[in-house]
Amino acid sequence: MFNKRIKIKALLENDATEYEATVMGWVRSFRNNQFIALNDGSANNNLQVVATLGHFDDALLKRITTGACIKATGNVIASLGKGQKVELQAASIEILGDSDAEKFPLQPKKHSLEFLREIAHLRFRTNTFGAIFRVRNSLAFAVHKFFNERGFVYMHTPIITGSDAEGAGEMFQVTTLPLDGTAPKNEDGSINFKEDFFGRSTNLTVSGQLEGELAAMAFSDIYTFGPTFRAENSNTTRHLAEFWMIEPEVAFNDLEDNMNLAEDFIKFIIAYAMEHNKEDLEFLAQRLSEEEKQKPQQERTEMGLVEKLEFVVNNNFERLTYTEAIEILRESSHNKKKKFTYLIDKWGVDLQSEHERYLVEKHFKKPVILTDYPKDIKSFYMRLNEDGKTVAAMDILAPGIGEIVGGSQREERYDKLVERMKEMHIPAEEMDWFLDTRRFGSCPHAGFGLGFERLVLFVTGMTNIRDVIPFPRFPKSAAF
Ligand code: 4AD
Ligand code: MG
Repeated sequence: MFNKRIKIKALLENDATEYEATVMGWVRSFRNNQFIALNDGSANNNLQVVATLGHFDDALLKRITTGACIKATGNVIASLGKGQKVELQAASIEILGDSDAEKFPLQPKKHSLEFLREIAHLRFRTNTFGAIFRVRNSLAFAVHKFFNERGFVYMHTPIITGSDAEGAGEMFQVTTLPLDGTAPKNEDGSINFKEDFFGRSTNLTVSGQLEGELAAMAFSDIYTFGPTFRAENSNTTRHLAEFWMIEPEVAFNDLEDNMNLAEDFIKFIIAYAMEHNKEDLEFLAQRLSEEEKQKPQQERTEMGLVEKLEFVVNNNFERLTYTEAIEILRESSHNKKKKFTYLIDKWGVDLQSEHERYLVEKHFKKPVILTDYPKDIKSFYMRLNEDGKTVAAMDILAPGIGEIVGGSQREERYDKLVERMKEMHIPAEEMDWFLDTRRFGSCPHAGFGLGFERLVLFVTGMTNIRDVIPFPRFPKSAAF
């Protein structure tokens, strides 16, 4: 069988020697015509494959270039070299795929993240991106594990939908109508979507929440985990046009239950990655500390990556209301010295990421859950509080990232919900299916959305969200 091979991770983890093994992978470097650093993606560390001098002919050795794919069979022996316990003494080497060293864009040296973003189709083959995407994989698995262990039903909500769940109008239209001006029109000149593929106007989903709420009204506890799309023109290190979101929705939960669930969830998945991706996280921690050294002293973070993750897992998140946060911000020296671009002068303003980061990084120095925001800056479905001006919303803010979770207790009272929809110009006629949950057996319930890439950013210590999703989509870019 061709595929009879041992993964490099398994080989390196085993201290045994003097047995025959076959490995396959991609050459990272080839030193002194003897030492091949081989990687198959199973681990961050390479396996040293030794091509003993004189044992292989020159024509073959010339083909062992960075990027080439090879198969090597030989004896596993104790290594005399630094950094590894075992190595493979190759008895045979087969080239599975050549790689022209002159043309292969990745060289055995440090490349900038910007350069690697341009060759995202090859960047998986670097140490940094290998580590990032193994961590991403673990976090995704831990998401399912967390909810599965708690009896949640994984619900697949639609990707093409007619609704704008957030009511923010940031949707990508889905249509098969021609774009050359010949699309069928109504009498008033607008496009006649009755003639479109679905017989109505549709878009890519911005959130699975509303459909998730329907399912929670039957299964009690559900979650979604899927791609979501936002056509917001935000060219930042925190925004993508296509990102993955995890949205649990739980019947009978109030805002406090919702906060507890979110905090437990975040701690669980981080702890899972720390346990299962030690090597990758240590590599990323090292990378980060080298990057930090380039920065001026006062901009450096005090904690290393692993310390930071441990801290988050072992400490309670700070919980306070929007109103309390506004007081802290208004009284802060930052505000008084006009260091914020947007000064905090009155209750009711939306918080910018500079404010969120001040609270988390300067004031509390830990993750923060902000609750009870003014109703005017939040979505229509959030439950109106007794005071009539705030809603039972919660945002979780993480150090170095800002908002990582947005959620709320939902407005379960039919009349109040319809009133909010009117105020916010949400077309109730098109949302009749959603209102049915409030007509037939409504109940208190709550949920939240965690932006998966923002979490991966936090855990890997990377700084640009475009580096933690394999093929990022953002304004003016949809390569690959
Ligand atoms: O705060 P948001 O907009 O909330 C919702 O969509 C709710 N329907 C969630 C719910 O209650 N079920 O988005 C949730 C999270 C944000 O906190 C952020 O982490 C992430 O999604 N997010 C983005 N991540 C990357 N790029 C973007 N453009 C994002 N927009 C939101
Ligand atoms: Mg939000």
